[in-house]
Amino acid sequence: MTEKYEVAVIVGSLRADSYSSRLAQALISVAPASLTFRSVGIATLPLYNQDLDENPPAPYTEFRNAISRAAAVLFVTPEYNRSVPGGLKNAIDVGSRPYGRNAFDAKPAAVVSQTPGAMGGFGANHAIRQSLVFLNMPTMQQPEAYFGHSDKLFGPGGTIANEGTRAFLTKFMQAFADWVAIHAGT
Ligand code: FNR
Repeated sequence: MTEKYEVAVIVGSLRADSYSSRLAQALISVAPASLTFRSVGIATLPLYNQDLDENPPAPYTEFRNAISRAAAVLFVTPEYNRSVPGGLKNAIDVGSRPYGRNAFDAKPAAVVSQTPGAMGGFGANHAIRQSLVFLNMPTMQQPEAYFGHSDKLFGPGGTIANEGTRAFLTKFMQAFADWVAIHAGT
């Protein structure tokens, strides 16, 4: 039987009708059966404050536990001001602490960025990768995934609007499944 790996999905937008959320759902919908998914919310995380780690608030503990039990992490995010949205950076900071107990440690990861604009969220994608180096996460290099004009990616009900997009999403998730199988638990 093929081994199954649980992937924590972290969406970098808090917006109800987020394109990032729709893109995350589309990625999940085409993923190989070896991956299962758990959406890990970031909206209720208090701003990271090292003092709180003496008696961590419940959302910190729940978030850290959700990351710890996952085999891998998929980040799907918009770009804010050419970098990582603050809420997502906060979640990365919360999960990385207390010192010596980084919940993200050694978990394989992939980063997908999107924008209704033209540049695909490249700045956010690579700013996240910079943090993932320090978190010791083996992060998939290829294929890269920068989705521009994300408002055109989806049809009614969040369906994938065209076959070219579907084919790329499928290829990306197959590569990620292969990446997770190689790196999970190492
Ligand atoms: C943006 N947006 C944006 N887009 C982009 O391509 N590069 C950028 O640097 C920014 N900066 C930025 C800052 C802030 C504070 C906001 C609110 C927005 C536009 C952004 O891509 C757009 O709002 C997306 O729809 C956000 O993604 P979600 O919420 O749809 O997932």
